[in-house]
Amino acid sequence: MARAFDVSRRAGYVSFCRNETGRLLAMLAATRGGVMAEFGTGCGVGTAWLRSGVRGAAHILTAELDEKLAGAAAEIFVDDPQVEVLAADWSTLGSKGPFSLLFLDSGDPGSVGVDQIADLVEPGGIVVLDDFVPCEMWPPITYGRVDTLREQWLTDERFTAVEVMVASDASAVVATRR
Ligand SMILES: C[S@@+](CC[C@H](N)C(=O)[O-])C[C@H]1O[C@@H](n2cnc3c(N)ncnc32)[C@H](O)[C@@H]1O
Repeated sequence: MARAFDVSRRAGYVSFCRNETGRLLAMLAATRGGVMAEFGTGCGVGTAWLRSGVRGAAHILTAELDEKLAGAAAEIFVDDPQVEVLAADWSTLGSKGPFSLLFLDSGDPGSVGVDQIADLVEPGGIVVLDDFVPCEMWPPITYGRVDTLREQWLTDERFTAVEVMVASDASAVVATRR
């Protein structure tokens, strides 16, 4: 974790998951085997949280579109054969699934919907989307608009999903593939 935060600081990059979400990721990673994936590595903070929970020989693949960020994140895991950082669009990971866990940000990379992801996750596999603003209404409203991404994830019949508040101002959707 310290190496990931150092790399982020040097890059002046602040767009990474919150510690509360990180702990959720680590806990879930500890229940997984096989191959996990992250869409949008940033500087590798979320990856490091996932890695901290991994037991045994499970692998993490993470894709980052920005080559500089991907390079910086790759440095963190240069000695770690269980983590692979790819400088690539997340869609290039599609052929490497199905994944036991998939982590992505709800806003970046760009509102990836359930249809694009459902078949990339193994039965019983878990998807985590972070960076939602908690909302007690249904349908969920964010900044005056229906949050259709969250609505979709919470109602899709291919997943059993829940919104979890990780802090008073932040929530994540956790969805298990049926
Ligand atoms: C919020 S940051 C990721 C933070 C990281 N998951 C963490 O928790 O530390 C989102 C990242 O997604 C990357 N991104 C955007 N579109 C992408 C795409 N199509 N494929 C891969 N990465 C993408 C952005 O460059 C950005 O670094």
